[in-house]
Amino acid sequence: MMLRTVFIACVVGCVLAKNVKQSTNPSLRNSTTGETDVLYRHEVLRADIYEVAWTVDFSKEEISFSVSAKTKGFVGFGISYTGSMQYSDIVIGGVFDNGTTYFADWHGDTSTANGFPIRDAHQDWFLDEAIENATHTNLVFHRLLNTCDNEDIAITNDTFKIIWSYGNTDQISYHGDNRGALAVNLLDPPSEAHDLSKYTLWRVAYPLDLPAEDTTYWCTYFKGPKLDKKHHYVGFNIFLNGSSSHQHTHHADLYKCTPPNGENIDEFFSKHVGYGYDCYFSKEYHPVEHCQLFESQWSIGGKVTMFPENTGVPIGEEETEYYMTEIHYDNPKKLAGVKVHSGMEMYYTDQLREQDAGFLQVGVMTAKSYSLTVPPNSQEFVVSSHCPSECTSNIPKEGVNAFVYLLHSHLSGRKERVRHFRGNEELPFLANDEHYDFNYQNNRHFRTELKLLPGDHLTL
Ligand SMILES: *[C@@H]1O[C@H](CO)[C@@H](O)[C@H](O)[C@H]1NC(C)=O
Ligand SMILES: *[C@@H]1O[C@H](CO)[C@@H](O)[C@H](O)[C@H]1NC(C)=O
Ligand SMILES: *[C@@H]1O[C@H](CO)[C@@H](O)[C@H](O)[C@H]1NC(C)=O
Ligand SMILES: *[C@@H]1O[C@H](CO)[C@@H](O)[C@H](O)[C@H]1NC(C)=O
Ligand SMILES: *[C@@H]1O[C@H](CO)[C@@H](O)[C@H](O)[C@H]1NC(C)=O
Repeated sequence: MMLRTVFIACVVGCVLAKNVKQSTNPSLRNSTTGETDVLYRHEVLRADIYEVAWTVDFSKEEISFSVSAKTKGFVGFGISYTGSMQYSDIVIGGVFDNGTTYFADWHGDTSTANGFPIRDAHQDWFLDEAIENATHTNLVFHRLLNTCDNEDIAITNDTFKIIWSYGNTDQISYHGDNRGALAVNLLDPPSEAHDLSKYTLWRVAYPLDLPAEDTTYWCTYFKGPKLDKKHHYVGFNIFLNGSSSHQHTHHADLYKCTPPNGENIDEFFSKHVGYGYDCYFSKEYHPVEHCQLFESQWSIGGKVTMFPENTGVPIGEEETEYYMTEIHYDNPKKLAGVKVHSGMEMYYTDQLREQDAGFLQVGVMTAKSYSLTVPPNSQEFVVSSHCPSECTSNIPKEGVNAFVYLLHSHLSGRKERVRHFRGNEELPFLANDEHYDFNYQNNRHFRTELKLLPGDHLTL
């Protein structure tokens, strides 16, 4: 059910599931109190210059930020849907030379893209601490997730951009190049730090002379790692070798291959191993339609994705396995002679975990069809697709727990929502992003695993 065309918008939600009792992401547990309603995150916004850490207290519906900037001047921080200051929610603060602190709640000028911000009539962000030393200014401040002030932005599960800036003096003025933006899901649990050295790394990557085309989908075939029995892979990451790979790789998928009925797997796939093809416009045949079993996806902005400690996806169950990577490269300037070397890294172990995980995809199938066609000049065109109760009927009786999801759509996608029905009842949205960003398609961990039962109906 994954997307198979580069031309039309496609919408796919993806969930990794397993069938154990629900558990809460351990990173949310306060090690002192055992409580699960506080989340802690940290991001470096510019190395050695500007960092932010934040905690979300879901019981108080409050978020607290701590920013550290290498300046003795003012420090700006904000949240925005687009990365621009227009329609953004901003705070500016600092410490004067005489030690007095200043801090206020501002918002972006809605009439121009990056005009001077405007002080909010109602102040809803509160300073807890402002400290300046010889080189840095640190500000700690908090606010409610939803301040109910229309000059602020309500913090939700949507995709936001953190915007940041600083000045060289305490005179609040144009920040010049001392600024930036980073896409984040503010309320999501962090990608946990893991000791990856205890797993075996299987890397599939292919060096490519990137075509001088705006967009290239490149499909490469690999033989699975040589394993004599079932193993589990427990996480995955992108592999990007060199700066041009970083610059041009938009997303990467790994699929498992299945030969057509009656064909010998080695005869069918081995001749393609080590070769890459333009996925959709290759003059030579390659077996893309037989490599459809989705295994993993990384997208720009994403980090390593690790599964819960008792969960793994089987690998090596068959004597020989073949896989295909599909990598989407961007080359908007149509540069010739760019060399890229990207792929996927899978972490596996022979220490089998308690639970097998798998994938569930919900969405509109666009493969080799025009089933999803958006008429020209459409406004707010809604695409919906269903995974009705028949589609979930072979989920085990006791249900499966979803622990991570990824929303996927192409350039026309603006919002995505996965609704969840059981019998005549609608349950909370499985996922909802009113500000979907094609350039930030993250594997998003649920705060608490979500139970799916046979007969549930999912609507994207
Ligand atoms: C954990 O709880 C303790 C006691 O309430 C509190 O002092 C501490 O700040 C909490 N830790 C986090 C990370 O919120
Ligand atoms: C500290 O300096 C600021 C900026 O010059 C000024 O507005 C403020 O009144 C001063 N505060 C004191 C206590 O001197
Ligand atoms: C000033 O604060 C920054 C950020 O907290 C810290 O890294 C740095 O070591 C501090 N410098 C001094 C001289 O204390
Ligand atoms: C990364 O690229 C360099 C230069 O082409 C190559 O020597 C190196 O082996 C590559 N690294 C990996 C891990 O493949
Ligand atoms: C955000 O997502 C979490 C699941 O990760 C869910 O529990 C929560 O209700 C969602 N919040 C909103 C406002 O939809």
